[in-house]
Amino acid sequence: MTAKSNFIDRTVQEYIIEHTVREHPVLAELRIETSQRSNAMMEIGPEQGAFMQLLARAIGARRYLEVGVFTGYSALAMALALPADGRILACDVNEEYTAVARRYWDRAGVSEKIDLRIAPAVETLATTIALNGEPFDMAFIDADKANVDNYYEAALRLVRTGGLILVDNVLWGGAVADSSANDPDTVALRALNAKAGRDERVDVSLVPTCDGILIARKR
Ligand SMILES: C[S@@+](CC[C@H](N)C(=O)[O-])C[C@H]1O[C@@H](n2cnc3c(N)ncnc32)[C@H](O)[C@@H]1O
Repeated sequence: MTAKSNFIDRTVQEYIIEHTVREHPVLAELRIETSQRSNAMMEIGPEQGAFMQLLARAIGARRYLEVGVFTGYSALAMALALPADGRILACDVNEEYTAVARRYWDRAGVSEKIDLRIAPAVETLATTIALNGEPFDMAFIDADKANVDNYYEAALRLVRTGGLILVDNVLWGGAVADSSANDPDTVALRALNAKAGRDERVDVSLVPTCDGILIARKR
């Protein structure tokens, strides 16, 4: 579904991780367990986790929305970065992946911060919009790419003014910049980048960390 990619030299990436990432021991254990899986590349990299934690702390985030949990690395990184009263709404469809996530969230003592909903994220997001509750400070979109625009639009409704929407894998291994690549996922991500780039509702930046992170700040 997604591919972990990197636009910098591996040695440089290892340098960054070694010198600047303070990975919580439970995050490190989760990364090791997840690395045994054939689809381990779906997990965000440790430097991306550190970047997201920094953003959350920089904006004083308390409420975080995640679309695409897998074995729980990004949600755990964020749970560790949020204050004690921080809350996460986490969306995924897969019980097997998220059973691993729950085990590590328990181990890190953050389970009570995380409300995991097992259902198609479009449904969970529609229900959450309808409930019209407290807005989120930050959202992270990292699930099926066919729905990326639906998730972006839902996040724009759910995040507060000044809040951040992050979309993962927006470079898609570089395919978005290759006009001969026209598979549905590439087309969906390319369209989102083009739309967000001129979207007057947000300030935007595309950071080429890992497989590319689109950061949109709601105006
Ligand atoms: C790239 S992985 C998420 C990686 C995760 N953020 C991490 O840090 O490890 C994508 C996840 O999206 C989930 N997913 C796929 N389609 C979905 C859908 N329609 N609704 C909710 N989750 C979905 C998959 O089950 C998978 O766990």
